[in-house]
Amino acid sequence: MTSRPLANPAPAALADRAEFERAALEGLSRAPRAIPAKFLYDARGSQLFDQICELPEYYLTRTETRILHDCAPRIAELTGPGRALVEFGSGSSVKSRLLLDAMTDLAVYAPIDISREHLDATADKLRRDYPGLRVEPVCGDYMAIDTLPDSVPDARRLGFFPGSTIGNLTPDEAKAFLLRARRLLGDDGALVLGVDLRKDPALLHAAYNDSAGITAAFTLNLLRRMNRELDATFDLSGFAHEAFYNEEEGRIEIYFRSLRSQTAMVAGWRFMFAQGERVHTEYSYKYDIRTFAALVDGAGFRVGHTWIDDESLFAVHYLVAESKVD
Ligand code: AVI
Repeated sequence: MTSRPLANPAPAALADRAEFERAALEGLSRAPRAIPAKFLYDARGSQLFDQICELPEYYLTRTETRILHDCAPRIAELTGPGRALVEFGSGSSVKSRLLLDAMTDLAVYAPIDISREHLDATADKLRRDYPGLRVEPVCGDYMAIDTLPDSVPDARRLGFFPGSTIGNLTPDEAKAFLLRARRLLGDDGALVLGVDLRKDPALLHAAYNDSAGITAAFTLNLLRRMNRELDATFDLSGFAHEAFYNEEEGRIEIYFRSLRSQTAMVAGWRFMFAQGERVHTEYSYKYDIRTFAALVDGAGFRVGHTWIDDESLFAVHYLVAESKVD
């Protein structure tokens, strides 16, 4: 077994470790095995994901960026002046800059992110680059947040949820997220949302099985993270990344697969892996326009506008709050 790090971890890090341990033990104890995707994003996982976004096969980021670049002025027009721009899971706010450049009369930009460090660094940079802009970062889990703190002034709200992150949720989870967002944004709210579209499975396969092996490293980093943080003993050479498109479900499914029969310790527990057995790590749902419209309709929004690139790879939707939700 690997030894624990000698330095005393900060209290927040301890809480994270306990949550990771619980999720990993629970996920490896059930059938079929699965570990929630959010644990892919430790520091190394986040760096690897940034590299994925630059890959030639991973069309999502550059396509969405191009669409947003072109439609941002129209979004500014549609939404009107004096809005609070609320970003769900802001990271380094790269795409939000496209909206900030176009929306020069915002009341406030409120990025929500789980990482305080990330948030503060990004807020400082934005304040420097947009001197007139009020930036009020909100530290929290955007999947669980119900209200914004008083530091965010009262103004009509425009949500922003780019990257097709909604695709990493099951349709039920996506609906629950939209309902929560609808409540948070209010009866006069709107939401700009990026969604990856259904397409030729060969393109999808390539995007999640890149030739440089970065996506594989991203998946297998979860094993590395368990080795480091949970005293796990995974031999990384005994596992492989597996990603394929499930046409019927309209989703990419990602797993790590055991290449031989083997055991590994995790936080003091021994787990056996049969040859070929896999552990689920991610779904990435792809939507056609109609199915997505039906999903948002059930969550108190209607699709106001949709922008799609010339190759019909990706869609940016402008959703308008409609029916009342409790
Ligand atoms: C963050 N999310 C939208 C990515 C996706 O495409 O589903 C995560 C990812 N996993 C492997 N490659 C990309």
